[in-house]
Amino acid sequence: MIKLGVLASGRGSNFQSIIDSIDRGALDAEIACLITDNRSAYAIERARLHNIPHVYINPAGYASRDIFYRSIADELQFCEVELVVLAGFMRVVKKPLIDAFPMRIMNIHPALLPSFKGLNAQKQALDYGVRIAGCTVHFVDEEVDSGPIILQEAVPVFSDDTEESLSARILESEHRIYPLAIKLFIEGKLRVTGNTVKIGD
Ligand code: GAR
Repeated sequence: MIKLGVLASGRGSNFQSIIDSIDRGALDAEIACLITDNRSAYAIERARLHNIPHVYINPAGYASRDIFYRSIADELQFCEVELVVLAGFMRVVKKPLIDAFPMRIMNIHPALLPSFKGLNAQKQALDYGVRIAGCTVHFVDEEVDSGPIILQEAVPVFSDDTEESLSARILESEHRIYPLAIKLFIEGKLRVTGNTVKIGD
């Protein structure tokens, strides 16, 4: 059974969708640890409720970003993690962590990448006036919200949408495609060539 390490900064609803997929037998995985950079992240409560080991790593306690990410990599390696899952981890991941888990770090972003990278992606989409929005699961490289795309799901944007209503619609898609992308990884069905991912046996 593959060991996952989850990094989250806040609410942790994507973390929960992964926990639920494991619990109902849809994902053959174990969450070896949750790492958070925010002491008051609700994700910690979710970990407690499900007896998942969790660690708070205080970014202010490190002399540099590189040392911060090296210590996260150390923690994940200590837990024998094979796939790192960023679930609302609101930081740009740096080289020491990426090098420790090459093409083994996934992220979910609430936009159809490469559109609307960075913060408040749903508001960016509304402000731009797009008719279709969505979410993307991708492998992580050193740029912001960048790296080979694994899965995307589109949702409609309605004329009376608010940031909240659009975010809620996108979140439903997120909770569907993130566990699915992890499942494809576990089953060895993802082949990365350059910046593209082929899905198959
Ligand atoms: C999700 O919408 C996720 O896509 C987004 O943060 C939210 C976290 O929600 N991530 C990013 O914007 C990363 N660039 P959650 O804590 O309930 O999973």
